[in-house]
Amino acid sequence: MIETDKLCKYYGDFVAIEDITFSVKKGEILGFLGPNAAGKTTTMRILTGYLPPSSGTARVAGYDVIDHSLEARRRIGYMPETVPLYTDMTVYDYLNFYGALRGIDRKRKEKRINTVMGLCHLRDYADTLIGKLSKGFRQRVGLAQAILHEPDVLILDEPTIGIDPRQVVETRQLIKSFGGEHTVVLSSHILPEVSMICERVVIINEGRIVAIDRPENLSERLRGSERIQLDVRGPAAEVASRLRQVKGVLEVSWEKADGNFRFVVDARLGRDLREELAGVIVHQGWGLLGLQGLGMTLEDIFLQLTTKEEV
Ligand SMILES: Nc1ncnc2c1ncn2[C@@H]1O[C@H](COP(=O)(O)OP(=O)(O)O)[C@@H](O)[C@H]1O
Ligand SMILES: [Mg+2]
Repeated sequence: MIETDKLCKYYGDFVAIEDITFSVKKGEILGFLGPNAAGKTTTMRILTGYLPPSSGTARVAGYDVIDHSLEARRRIGYMPETVPLYTDMTVYDYLNFYGALRGIDRKRKEKRINTVMGLCHLRDYADTLIGKLSKGFRQRVGLAQAILHEPDVLILDEPTIGIDPRQVVETRQLIKSFGGEHTVVLSSHILPEVSMICERVVIINEGRIVAIDRPENLSERLRGSERIQLDVRGPAAEVASRLRQVKGVLEVSWEKADGNFRFVVDARLGRDLREELAGVIVHQGWGLLGLQGLGMTLEDIFLQLTTKEEV
């Protein structure tokens, strides 16, 4: 549904994005994750036809966003970073105005406004002035506007930024519910958010893609090992040496913890060594006080990926 090929955008000598290549399948929810100034907004503005790339191409529903801009735009609903809402219009009037801009005929427009106000929980606010709405509700109006013309593709730029935490949960659920019917690309700099909403994540940093994968796969792929933590009562050096002999163990480190020792074992992926490690400890007559697998969180990966130092 969306395909980009080596998108680049330069401002003079400054590289805003470089070699951005990815694709999104119909009905998929893709997350664009990256810190401030990573190039998320730039990429999204190119996708929506608002900003021409310096080089590279982007296609939406098969239409090039430059060569067939109108056809592409017709299929896109866009919620920009700052939603330009008219504060002196009511919610209904705003959606009505937007529907007219989109060229929706009158009868269908009525129906669609009613539908999107329902979906975005705005029915009770139809006659409220937008200026009187909280930030969270304004975002909902922005979302309602984006889906009004039933676009195949939704581009949402940091849709939950600045919203009251209580409303964030609902907004995320709402966006998640758009998947399947719509193809969604959303940007965020919040890790739990993308792992919660998205099926696939593009991690972008300093204008470049550093990883693309499903949230649950990123950790495995990047580290290539699994980490297990054991709390043991016993002679530390000897314990470490025995653990190192277990097949699949790559590295063992330890530190003193509450009068006992805490061992961190890095093991090759694909084999669950917990039982075997426990067996070794117990067999030696040492005390096994605790054992747990330490998965790598998306946050760890993000830090690892976006850190500037070379490892
Ligand atoms: N019109 C512009 N002129 C010059 N630099 C720009 C312009 N727009 C964006 N940039 C720069 O491009 C980089 C990427 O910005 P942006 O796409 O907004 O990042 P993000 O949305 O990930 O925070 C930033 O360093 C930003 O300062
Ligand atoms: Mg941005």
